[in-house]
Amino acid sequence: MNNLIFLILCIFLYGGIQAKPDEIPGRTALDNFPLIDGHNDLPLNLLKLYHNKLEKYNFHEDWKSNPLAANCGHCHTDFPKLKQGKLGAQFWSAYINCQHSKNQVAETIDQIDVIKRLVHKYRDDLHFSTRSDDILTAFQQKKIASFIGVEGGNSIDNRLSVLRAYYDLGVRYLTLTHSCNLDWADSSIIDNDAYSPKKNLTDFGKAVVLEMNRLGMLVDLSHVSKNVMIEAIGVSRAPIIFSHSSSRFVYNHTRNVDDDVLKLLKENGGIIMVNFFPSFVGDNGSISDVADHINHIVDVTGADHIGIGADFDGIPTTPTGLKDVSEYPNLFDLLRKQNPERWTIENLEKLAGRNFVKVFKKVEDVKLELINESPREDVINN
Ligand SMILES: *[C@@H]1O[C@H](CO)[C@@H](O)[C@H](O)[C@H]1NC(C)=O
Ligand SMILES: *[C@@H]1O[C@H](CO)[C@@H](O)[C@H](O)[C@H]1NC(C)=O
Ligand SMILES: *[C@@H]1O[C@H](CO)[C@@H](O)[C@H](O)[C@H]1NC(C)=O
Repeated sequence: MNNLIFLILCIFLYGGIQAKPDEIPGRTALDNFPLIDGHNDLPLNLLKLYHNKLEKYNFHEDWKSNPLAANCGHCHTDFPKLKQGKLGAQFWSAYINCQHSKNQVAETIDQIDVIKRLVHKYRDDLHFSTRSDDILTAFQQKKIASFIGVEGGNSIDNRLSVLRAYYDLGVRYLTLTHSCNLDWADSSIIDNDAYSPKKNLTDFGKAVVLEMNRLGMLVDLSHVSKNVMIEAIGVSRAPIIFSHSSSRFVYNHTRNVDDDVLKLLKENGGIIMVNFFPSFVGDNGSISDVADHINHIVDVTGADHIGIGADFDGIPTTPTGLKDVSEYPNLFDLLRKQNPERWTIENLEKLAGRNFVKVFKKVEDVKLELINESPREDVINN
């Protein structure tokens, strides 16, 4: 055959077998860049179901196959499902109950410790992580980057010394409150309560935020009241995060974030990682409701301030189409199918993890800028 005709034939055939852009499934993004989830409560289930005894627990098994967890309605995570779900990095939550805990600091350290022991036991699959660079390192090694987040400022027991000790243990975010109003910050529960006076974020609360900036710890505003969101964004010298919150315009729940706060978030350079809990995303509780939240937030902030913080293992029900950690890729496929112009593979990579890495790097840069600042003095009242 004439070489030229052969070449033309090859080009023609190659063009024919290449997928059209809108036929490339959204989940392709998760092969290019690690999917980062801002919040998973597996450690709470390790406490509730196994009393933190990892010898009784097998991360490699379907969680249902262990009799201790067989009827668990709030279990959504095991290693095979994480692999199927293409998860690249996870903030594991060190959570304790803010009302019923007897020794908040010790119990928080128990949860930090069980995360570290889990990561150590499964070190061939999990990569203990404290820096933004760890996310890509783990991805290259086909491991899941595993970070620790403490969910609730009650865990610091009004002490900056404890906050600093958590940083040294590897904690990289603190959610300012869970669902208790603290001495120094109001929880979102106050936004449904016409009677309790609002203190917002007190001077000590502002010192907590500034100390976190100095340490290089991410400030998490999921669960706080609207006034605390606004005041914390106002005082923070680094971008903030919402580790697991959705849009209040799409579904009016006080755990979600209003559009005016989303505009402040955009100016601040931070990120909102969307929660999947049907009680927050909408009554139908389907994957398309979650997509509606993501699309609305992108309408308000653009595509650079959005991520995923599903809240698996911390929620009693999950949306259809996103029933457990194996189903994240469905969401990426759906977004792209609905709107391939908006959801280019590049924008899906931003949603998956690029936006979060950018925020984390900026927080690390601010730490370096503040390197000559002294630790803030505690006010010791005893
Ligand atoms: C809390 O924030 C609201 C809204 O900005 C403000 O009106 C109120 O005075 C604040 N309360 C305190 C105690 O600072
Ligand atoms: C949510 O509901 C509250 C109370 O009914 C109302 O004041 C507020 O404007 C609503 N917010 C949105 C975004 O619809
Ligand atoms: C979901 O709920 C909304 C109202 O909240 C309703 O308009 C819509 O038809 C429902 N969709 C499905 C698929 O059930």
